[in-house]
Amino acid sequence: MSSSYIEKLHLSHFRQFKTLDVEFNHRFNFISGPNGCGKTSILAGISHCFNQYSLDFTRFNSNSEFWTDLNLDGKKVRTGLGKGSFTGSSYRSNSSDVYNPPIAEENRIAIPTYQSESRLDGFCPLFIGAERSIKYKKIVGMTRESERQQQIHGYTRKGTELLYGLNDSYNIKQWFINRYFIIDKDWATVEKENWNHMIEFLPTLAPFDSNFSYIRIGRDLEPVFSLYGQECYLEELSAGFQAILFIIANIFEWIEATREEGERLVKDASGTVLIDELDIHLHPEWQFTLRDGLSNIFPQLQFIVTTHSPHLLSSAKENEIIIMQRHHDKNEYSLKPSSKRYSGWNTDQILSEVMGVVSIENKEYEQLIVAALNKMEEGKIQEFRYAIDALSKVAHPNDSILTVLNTKYASMVALSND
Ligand SMILES: Nc1ncnc2c1ncn2[C@@H]1O[C@H](COP(=O)(O)OP(=O)(O)O)[C@@H](O)[C@H]1O
Ligand SMILES: [Mg+2]
Repeated sequence: MSSSYIEKLHLSHFRQFKTLDVEFNHRFNFISGPNGCGKTSILAGISHCFNQYSLDFTRFNSNSEFWTDLNLDGKKVRTGLGKGSFTGSSYRSNSSDVYNPPIAEENRIAIPTYQSESRLDGFCPLFIGAERSIKYKKIVGMTRESERQQQIHGYTRKGTELLYGLNDSYNIKQWFINRYFIIDKDWATVEKENWNHMIEFLPTLAPFDSNFSYIRIGRDLEPVFSLYGQECYLEELSAGFQAILFIIANIFEWIEATREEGERLVKDASGTVLIDELDIHLHPEWQFTLRDGLSNIFPQLQFIVTTHSPHLLSSAKENEIIIMQRHHDKNEYSLKPSSKRYSGWNTDQILSEVMGVVSIENKEYEQLIVAALNKMEEGKIQEFRYAIDALSKVAHPNDSILTVLNTKYASMVALSND
């Protein structure tokens, strides 16, 4: 059984980052931080290390460099591009003349991005972007699946596009139908075992009372599922179930498509799946259970995901949460998974202290405080009084800010009477 995963990412002069170094856990990584801090850009940076076809998604300059360090079954490899690969490129037209390999490190083989397809022993990460609804498609029959090398080429080539939702080549319904046609053939023992593995674990992913399960594929080639005791078609499933199925089926398809014979069992497969905004469309109850559900179905995979969900974060174990703050001033980051666990924290604490959300408290309360402070600043005593009264209607009677404002008001009145 092989074990391959991403150890590190280095970016420099890459998008808004002057430098960024991230270490990854070989299992779960939840990247969290405020909007625009660069979470998706981390995933994009990784995708660039594996293919030179979609570098137009990023602007580079002559100092730009990026690489990913991999552990391929014990073999240490670095893939990416070194300084001087780009010369004054402009938006959407990265014409690189020379692709320099990334800077070398002792005991690590450095290879340039354009060789990653042939020299990484078939390692190609799976990128799943934030757009993952299932659009209706009529399936006419089974399709022939491409050879392994071609599949690896496909996954490597379209990584960045998939991340930004610009490639709709995923067709999970076709995958379901193909499996339906082959799993009873005597040559398809691995596919059958994987299929059974999926059917068995699907219900453990869903909220407790939903009884989510696969039922059958009918003569019309439409897969039928059961949800809350009722049958429904793939496209009829609610957004959350679609999002989950989309993720699960894509991972199965990717494992079967890109692994050597003998390495295709989902329960044994290693490799890296990167998902932007994992929690999107999911009910909070589901966000709590998703980590363990994924861990059961894919016990050997590495996940690098971004998320805004405090529920998901509270389900993380030690060394699984990577917190980004926004550093507008220096834009230098050195990140690694935090050794803390957040399971004992409540949602508000995670939102404010881990994710940097400032005003999670009552919005109206916040606004009334600001209004009162303004009147105080302007020295308008009567309006200051009205503002405090308005605030006291929504605030807790012992609210400390209210107490401070009342004291301040009293001293202003005393001063004006002098
Ligand atoms: N193609 C690009 N080239 C250069 N800079 C970019 C590009 N895309 C995004 N950025 C910069 O990266 C910042 C962070 O974007 P993003 O990674 O999408 O943040 P997040 O996913 O954390 O919300 C943006 O505010 C922008 O300044
Ligand atoms: Mg993003």
